Amino acid sequence: MNYSKNKLFIDNIAVDKIIKRFGTPTYCYSYNQLKKNIFNFEKNFNKLNPLICFAVKANNNVKILNEIGKLGLGADVVSKGELMAALKSNINPRKIVFSGVGKTSNEIEFAAKKNILLINAESKSEIKAISKISNKISKSIDIGLRLNPNVDAKTIKEITTGKNSNKFGLNEKEVLDLVKEYKNSKFVNIKCLSVHIGSQITSHTPYLRTLNAIQKIIDKSKFRFEYVDLGGGMGINYGQENKLLNYKKYSQHISKFIKKNKVKIIFEPGRSIIGSAGYLLTKIIYIKKTNKINFIILDSGMNDLMRPALYKAYHRIIPCKKSKTKISKIHDFVGPICETTDKFLSVKTFQKLNEGDNIVICDVGAYGKVLSSNYNLRIGASEIIVKNSKVLRIRKKENLNNII
Ligand code: LLP
Repeated sequence: MNYSKNKLFIDNIAVDKIIKRFGTPTYCYSYNQLKKNIFNFEKNFNKLNPLICFAVKANNNVKILNEIGKLGLGADVVSKGELMAALKSNINPRKIVFSGVGKTSNEIEFAAKKNILLINAESKSEIKAISKISNKISKSIDIGLRLNPNVDAKTIKEITTGKNSNKFGLNEKEVLDLVKEYKNSKFVNIKCLSVHIGSQITSHTPYLRTLNAIQKIIDKSKFRFEYVDLGGGMGINYGQENKLLNYKKYSQHISKFIKKNKVKIIFEPGRSIIGSAGYLLTKIIYIKKTNKINFIILDSGMNDLMRPALYKAYHRIIPCKKSKTKISKIHDFVGPICETTDKFLSVKTFQKLNEGDNIVICDVGAYGKVLSSNYNLRIGASEIIVKNSKVLRIRKKENLNNII
């Protein structure tokens, strides 16, 4: 994304032109940026030769998943729906892992019949359920055990998942007991030890603590895991981060770990793959000026992008036409939804804006469209992709008659 003669372009196409053709609100993805992110991720871990399973929960658009699959990644899914989307996108089932604390028997059976690589189990009851299904379909099932390492990921508390107060995974003792109980089972083959400690992580130290917790399990159990799935969580730069993840240190520690343990590494990144490749294109409906605040009322709201309302998450907002005139007054960029939390951003100064101007909300490729709803009975934003100088619609426009 760049400005040329004060006009905003995404991959050399003027955003105003895109908006004229596709309307607002619309999620727009850049194929180039997606490819770049995948390339960077692979480069950061190239010594490890890992299996990279894209976390479908971050973005489940089938066209996006198809492109990700073609670029060589697998998928991490957490429901039958996500698994179906991954398969429909031609992602190889042998590169699919299934996580989640509440998989139903129906979901487990579906996944087992599709021959996916691993079902990462998160409780004793789930392993019992998997064994039962294995017996029913006369097929042993490859599983991972998800460890809750009780590590603070030092991220937003709502997206921390690896502390013992969180619902996710099994504690050390439970993992050790389960290995003992199931290592000779004819129903489940324990193949993997998995973790995922949280999201938008910007420090490598929680990851190193997690590696230590995994090492402890391997040493104590003396069990040979074929895979260690380190989850995702790699933070991206939304524009306000003080520091970013030190991939080099993280990767070096994993290298040492692999040398010692001879395991294949799996990653489950979502945000770091698609986050910066997505833009929400929107338009100013009205500008409402009070004494202290200019309310910039946009035609997209928290129903399209929940992150600011849900986590006070920061997303840069930029105009499609740059102006040199600055207005020193609080600007609140808000949506049309009848909730006070329907606010994207508050800034102290902004360039002069007019009603009807086009605006872009940045870095919304991950946990954007997937968290959206029809709240206030609003039509959801459609999705488009810019690839090879062409713009393609990749999700049908909703129609009010179909959602009412
Ligand atoms: N693996 C598992 C088991 C997960 O639960 C998650 C994310 C990931 C991988 C991918 O994590 P990532 O690389 O994207 O950080 N809605 C929140 C994020 C929730 C993340 C949930 N789990 C947000 O908008 O920030």
